[in-house]
Amino acid sequence: MDKILILDFGSQTTQLIGRRIRELGVYTEIIPGDADLAAVLADTEAGYSLRGLILSGSPESVYTPAGPVPDRRIYSCGLPLLGICYGLQRITVDNGGEVKPLAKREYGGVKVRVRSGGRSPGRPGKKKTEVFTAWMSHGDTLTKLAPGFVETGTSETGYPAVVVHREKPWYGLQFHPEVTHCERGMETLSSFVFGICGCKKSWTMEAHIEEVRASLAAKVGSAPVLLLISGGVDSTVAAALLLKILGPDQVYLMYIDTGLMRRGETGQVKTTLERLGARHLHILMAEDEFLSALKGKQNPEEKRKTIGDLFIRVQERELKRLGLPENYFLAQGTIYTDLIESGQGIGKKAHVIKSHHNVGSPLVDAKRREGRIVEPLDRLYKDEVRALGRILGISPSVINRHPFPGPGLGVRILGEVTKEKCAILREADAIFMEELKTRGLYDKIWQAFAVLLPIRSVGVAGDIRKYGWVLALRAITSSDGMTAGVYPFPSKDLLEISTRITNTVTDIGRVTYDISSKPPATIEWE
Ligand code: XMP
Repeated sequence: MDKILILDFGSQTTQLIGRRIRELGVYTEIIPGDADLAAVLADTEAGYSLRGLILSGSPESVYTPAGPVPDRRIYSCGLPLLGICYGLQRITVDNGGEVKPLAKREYGGVKVRVRSGGRSPGRPGKKKTEVFTAWMSHGDTLTKLAPGFVETGTSETGYPAVVVHREKPWYGLQFHPEVTHCERGMETLSSFVFGICGCKKSWTMEAHIEEVRASLAAKVGSAPVLLLISGGVDSTVAAALLLKILGPDQVYLMYIDTGLMRRGETGQVKTTLERLGARHLHILMAEDEFLSALKGKQNPEEKRKTIGDLFIRVQERELKRLGLPENYFLAQGTIYTDLIESGQGIGKKAHVIKSHHNVGSPLVDAKRREGRIVEPLDRLYKDEVRALGRILGISPSVINRHPFPGPGLGVRILGEVTKEKCAILREADAIFMEELKTRGLYDKIWQAFAVLLPIRSVGVAGDIRKYGWVLALRAITSSDGMTAGVYPFPSKDLLEISTRITNTVTDIGRVTYDISSKPPATIEWE
């Protein structure tokens, strides 16, 4: 399978480059921009052929010490190179050109005039000049091209926008073709990937399933594989994939109901997994254990730790009861973006350990040391995980489910968690979700939920004053949960939803809507 490698210098849009090229049907991988490329360029990974390299943008400047530098082997390996923004400036400076700061940063849509002559990415073929609106985000510009390069595109502001090497397959764009607002962006990437690198469309979900099948067969053989299920999209799709590839006899699934789940959640998880053919499905109902551990605990950090620690203890105890042989493998629903540290400048590929509660798990650590971890989704982006789930027959209601935190309702009941409060919140939250679905809003919102506040406020019921709990509704828009905006509800919807909640859940006296974005607020309240 053909592969394009992306050197990540820390741009916000590096991930988008990878996604866009995969949308074109070509496999991509992102690695740190300053990684040692000896092994990568030797191209020893079975089944993959490296066809070209893309150098991403960066928040840094090439002329500062912080500006990341790629392995110089990229300039002697003979593979096609495409530099985007900082990537272009990097290629320029590394090869004898010059880059200087602009008087004023250029950001957003800027018209560019591109003269094509058969070798320029974006327009191979006849000579012509085209003008389109490209998407820029740069504070530096090329002031002298590196020897061998010609300028084939210029911005209306007078800066080099496209440069091409006369002999080598090296290209540079000052703009960002990966951004959807960039006109001709997909065409530009497509002509680099297919026209220059000669890639064939070979990245399809079906092909990927076959690849996972081969690598699982080689790694796992006939040993049992245990997957811990949280009920979320990733672990459900991982279960479906393992069941399809290994068959139900080899796959063991374990799910712990902490009592902090949403209404009907455990039943839904069971039905989904059974429909997917699960045979060894171990569901543990541990509500009493979790609620008694949380008794009297008010502090958010203490609550989170209590839930996380107990989860690990219960999991270990149940595993012993399962009695799997020592050589069993642990599967995780880690996805591609979990492997890339976010917000850290250069995207170092850190192996993030994904557990239900995002805490270090001795089991995961031990299995990783033994080399007995399998992560069948670790090459997929979230939208690809969803696409795979659809192919594997998982219902849209499961695939499109909003994220749910590991500690569950435990962090949505502020202050002490009790069985009664869980019941109140569960009912209110279920009404909120049902209303969002019937109003056609659920899929427009990235995450929505209700939070039970630790205050009672006065109200009237008939002739008597009554103190009811205060409920906060939260609904946010986001693309990855790292930042979030408030979902702008039509007020009619909010008013009707609030009325239904207070009419149905009589312990709730008042409903508020959280209008805080992230940052400064977080998505969850605790
Ligand atoms: P915050 O509250 O940090 O949430 O803005 C970002 C996203 O992460 C989810 N979240 C968690 N997920 N374990 C999880 O698996 C946790 O402890 C946890 N805390 C928050 C949150 O729901 C949101 O989607």
